Amino acid sequence: MRLLVTGGAGYVGSVVARRLRAAGHETVILDDLSTGHRAAVERPDDLVQGDFGDRLRVGGLLEARRIDAVVHLAASCLVGESVADPAAYYRNNLERSLALLDRMRQAGVLRFVLSSTAAVYGEPAALPIDEDHPTRPANPYGDTKLALERALHWYHAAHGLRFVALRYFNAAGATSDGALGEDHRPESHLVPNVLRAALTGEPVPIFGSDYPTPDGTAVRDYVHVEDLAEAHLAALRRLESRAAGESFNLGNGHGFSVLQVIETARRVTGRPIPVRPAGRRPGDPGTLVASAQRARRELGWAPRFAELGAILETAWRFLRQHPDGYSA
Ligand code: UFG
Repeated sequence: MRLLVTGGAGYVGSVVARRLRAAGHETVILDDLSTGHRAAVERPDDLVQGDFGDRLRVGGLLEARRIDAVVHLAASCLVGESVADPAAYYRNNLERSLALLDRMRQAGVLRFVLSSTAAVYGEPAALPIDEDHPTRPANPYGDTKLALERALHWYHAAHGLRFVALRYFNAAGATSDGALGEDHRPESHLVPNVLRAALTGEPVPIFGSDYPTPDGTAVRDYVHVEDLAEAHLAALRRLESRAAGESFNLGNGHGFSVLQVIETARRVTGRPIPVRPAGRRPGDPGTLVASAQRARRELGWAPRFAELGAILETAWRFLRQHPDGYSA
């Protein structure tokens, strides 16, 4: 298929684009490079620098490149930032995505894979979280993704748009060859911050130690970025084989606390990792652990990286190969 991959210069998007190409698809990467990196686009000719909400630009691409489906990863995706500036999140993630969908509809492109999030669930009422769990986002980021998923259901009903929404839990790790990985500026995610602390000796903050969890720190389900990429391929197959309008959780089903992540990183790196206590971040739930049974059953998705240590090893390899990020 000919695929438009928005956000394909970003952390997850770059790995997804590589996997889609390896499977024989053609990719056009649309990224405004506001958080993505030119160097994360492995085939420079694939990159179109631009805004996915720009109707004219997107319309031109869909038609000129004869796009069959859109894989939409571009988004603002920081929980804390979304709490501080909700309007930016509704504009970037919802309004601009609706412009993209409208343009797709006009061009007759009716297949869509959405990068969604565990943040649609909010504070869990039961664990592990399956797709039937109530959706009560605890922050604007999760709310914008949920609103978009809901809009997709109505586009499906009204216009026959077929979609799969992939609700990632905590994306982590890097490609096994160390070429593509996480490089946000500033970096707010736990895994890269912990590994950087191993590299520099700068203490990593622990945001909250009073959560109702065994050691008081927040628990997350870390899922390897290459496993996420594989799910996008499965989602496209799903869209080819049947009419779809579905959401799937993507996680390993195992929760690790912030302290467990740090302990595992000490083992993997063989280095001390200094920490400093800090307050909770607004909008952060205490525990998020997935049941990804539906994705396993319906998409045939089986994550290859079940071990947190193996996930961290890949992220550590990327960091050592790119100590200054992609600019190096
Ligand atoms: N944390 C720290 N120190 C750090 C960074 C993070 O203690 O330096 C903690 C956070 O407070 C959180 C956990 O580590 O409890 C994981 O934090 P991340 O920032 O790595 O990931 P989040 O769980 O906040 O965010 C992820 C995705 C979001 C998604 C969210 C769902 O990145 O896109 O899960 O809640 F919305």
